[in-house]
Parts: sequence; C-alpha cells; structure tokens
Amino acid sequence: MLVNLCTLLFLLYFIASFPLISSQNYEYDSTIKTMEEFSGYPFQEHGFKDSSSALSVDIESLQRQIDELASFSDTPAPSVTRVLYSEKDVLARRYIKNLMGLAGLSVKEDAVGNIFGRWEGSEPEIAAVSTGSHIDAIPFSGKYDGVVGVLGAIEAINALKRIGFKPKRSLEVIMFTSEEPTRFGISCLGSRLLAGSKELAERLETTVDNQDISFSDAARFSGYAHEDVSTVFLNKGHYHAFIELHIEQGPILEEEGTSIGVVTAIASPASIKVDFEGNGGHAGAVLMPMRNDAGLAAAELSLAVEKHVLESGSIDTVGTVGILELHPGAINSIPSKSHLEIDTRDIDEKRRNKVIEKIHQSALNISRNRGVKLSEFKIINQDPPALSEDLIIKATESACKELNLSHKKMISRAYHDSLFMARISPMGMIFIPCYKGYSHKPEEFAAPVDIANGVRVLALTLAKLSLT
Ligand code: GLV
Ligand code: MN
Ligand code: MN
Repeated sequence: MLVNLCTLLFLLYFIASFPLISSQNYEYDSTIKTMEEFSGYPFQEHGFKDSSSALSVDIESLQRQIDELASFSDTPAPSVTRVLYSEKDVLARRYIKNLMGLAGLSVKEDAVGNIFGRWEGSEPEIAAVSTGSHIDAIPFSGKYDGVVGVLGAIEAINALKRIGFKPKRSLEVIMFTSEEPTRFGISCLGSRLLAGSKELAERLETTVDNQDISFSDAARFSGYAHEDVSTVFLNKGHYHAFIELHIEQGPILEEEGTSIGVVTAIASPASIKVDFEGNGGHAGAVLMPMRNDAGLAAAELSLAVEKHVLESGSIDTVGTVGILELHPGAINSIPSKSHLEIDTRDIDEKRRNKVIEKIHQSALNISRNRGVKLSEFKIINQDPPALSEDLIIKATESACKELNLSHKKMISRAYHDSLFMARISPMGMIFIPCYKGYSHKPEEFAAPVDIANGVRVLALTLAKLSLT
C-alpha cells in the first residue's frame, strides 16, 4: 500500500518534471532513486538492474519463521525460554544458519558461536556494514525480542536481493551469542567479546552456571570453544557501520502511533550479585532476638534498592531485584543464605554509579545491623552508555522519509548488542512499536505491519550505508 503510494507520488512528480521522457525505458523504482540520491553512487554500474518491484518484505514467510523459531523453547507457548548452549539453542542456531544459507550468505561462526552471514560486496576488501541481534530468550519471555533483528536482517538481505541491489561494501548479518545474562550472568556475552573485552575473556575461564557447568564445557556441548576465546575479538574499524533492528520494549511508539524509532543513545546498565549468610535454624525454636536471618537481609536490601533509585529524583533511573534466592528454602527453616541479583540502569552514568554506591553502603549497614555476613557484593558489569553515530541516524531517518514512515528519535532504556558494537563501530538502532511496550514476558507482540516497516527501513539503511 505504502509502496504503491510512493510509486504513485513519484510518478506524479516524474510526469510533472520530465513530461517528454517516456516511462517505457525508465520504469521507476523509488528505492533505486533514493539510494542513488543518498550516496551519489550510480547503482547501474554495480549491477543494480532497473526493477519495477519496490523494496518489499515477505512478511508471511518472516512471521512463519518467527513462529517456527519460537517453537525451539524449553517452556510451553506462548512463552519462550531459550537459554545459551541448551539443546533448543543449538536447534535454533541451526535454523538461523540454514536461513542464512538460503539467503545466499556465506556463514561463519566464531569460538563462542557468534554467527556471521556475509553477502560479499563489489569491494569486499573495504569494511563491511553489519546488522543483527540475538535469539536467546530469558525464561518465560516472548518471541520477538532480538528475533526480529536477526530474522528481519536476513529478510532485509532477501528484499535487497529481490530488487537486484548490489552492495559496494559487503553486508553482514550477525546473530550474537547470549545477549541475555540468563545462564552465566553476563549480558551481551558475544558482542562484549567481539568488542575486545579481555576482562570477560579471562573471566570466562572460571565462569560456571548454576549447575556448576563451566562456560567452556557448555560451549563445547554446542560445538564451540575449540579455539581461544580471544580469537573472537574484532578490531575497531572492522565494520564501517553496525545497525540493529529491535522491538521498542517500551510503549512510546505504539502510544504515539509512530512507525519507527531512531535510537540516539543506549542507557547504561549495571548488574550486581549479593550474598548474605546467617546462622539459619528452626523456625519455631529460635526466638526472634536470637536470629540473624539472611532472608530478611535480602528483603531489606531489595527495599533499599527501590529507595535509592527513587532518591535519584529522575524517572530515568531504574532498579530491579530480579533474582532472590533463599537457602535452604523450607517454610520452617530460617534462611541461612540469600542471594540477590540487582539490575540498575540510567541514561546518566554518574547518577547510576551513585545508586550503586548507595546500594553497597546499604548492604554493609544491613549486614552489620542484622549480624549477617555480606559474603559477596560483586559488580558484574557497570557499562557506560553508547551514542548512535550521526551518519547512521541520518541514513535511517532518510530511509524513513523515503518510505513514507513516521519516525522519532528516542533513547533505548534496554541494553542491546549495539551497546558493545558501538565500541568498535559506528552504531545505530531501529525500533518498531510493540504491543503496550510489553517485553520479557509471553505477551510480547509486534504487529506484522510494524515488523515489515522495520525490515524495509533496515534494508534501505543498509543499502545506503553499503554505498558510502
Ligand atoms: C535486554 O534484554 C535488557 O535486559 O535490556
Ligand atoms: Mn531481552
Ligand atoms: Mn533484545
């Protein structure tokens, strides 16, 4: 419908501007024209054939793929649970590699299972343009988070191929390993490593999951980790640009009826692990003055997290205690151990760091006042925010204009692999609306029309960037 509208508008413009030129030998494709205009680069020289088909997305196939991928889950539909290096993750990875192959991409994997599908450009020696996201899913989540940015990227390549586009810079689709911290407590594991985190490479040598399975054993189970993890590192400049398509995971685009969010910055996330230890004991026999209850210490710290976040005075500061475990976990036993995992974020890094300091101080005070041991207070990650690159913002905005899609600039409160890709490459993100902003729960939903819009914007932006 929009394509038809674009074509119609152009034809009107075309007829008005060049009344003497017959449309017979220049059948208009808005995509060709806009890409030439943006880059000043003649498409025909690079094998771009005139095509009457405008950039179109096969949304039926894409939706079917989203649904099929969701079936690789350890929990029943509509929820999706797909944890790093689980059997379901391995099957899902196979599914993605197969689709990349069908799209004509040459597929490679690195030592931790980041998957790269490459479409060679006419100048393969210059830095490629990359796009992608993740397909791992936290327990009982939905089927769109990350997935839209991987399957959508493959479909964007298919759409470009269908119109005969030939990239100058190679285009690469990346499926990042473990954006979610579910299994090893480390978010954006694959992209952090790509960005050259030596600290993470070292930490992974001793990292185990909650079943005491080491990272390397788990990776080997999936066919990875045969090489040193540091082989994953990429140099700054390896990519000319990186752009990620993702559902917004917030309500703004849907509420405002805006089709596309152009991300200007990603908020800075941090996560902390805390352990308290007390004496435990019998729930009937140990009198209240005699107790040092590790469970109550955890409860008090949870409330302190909320208090410190609210004290920041900014709506942009958030904090969550997403994991709270008590040992031994019996109704008639005073908890002798408690374990908390705290997530706190802000668009202002200093303000977020202040919250972390306050949480630490509260943990120390609670431990002293309650006579419990603070056996661990470990900041797992304390990442700075990332800014999108102007070149990519502009390319995305102009793609939206050319496709006649409303758009607005916005920040991402969720983190993404883009946060780390920004360390080695100019970065940008495209958001699409999702139902009520729901995410990380089974009700997560993005309408096919919004997904198709996102993929079209991605395809056109990739095309533009591949010619710069
Ligand atoms: C990503 O999944 C996040 O928690 O922001
Ligand atoms: Mn997520
Ligand atoms: Mn995600």
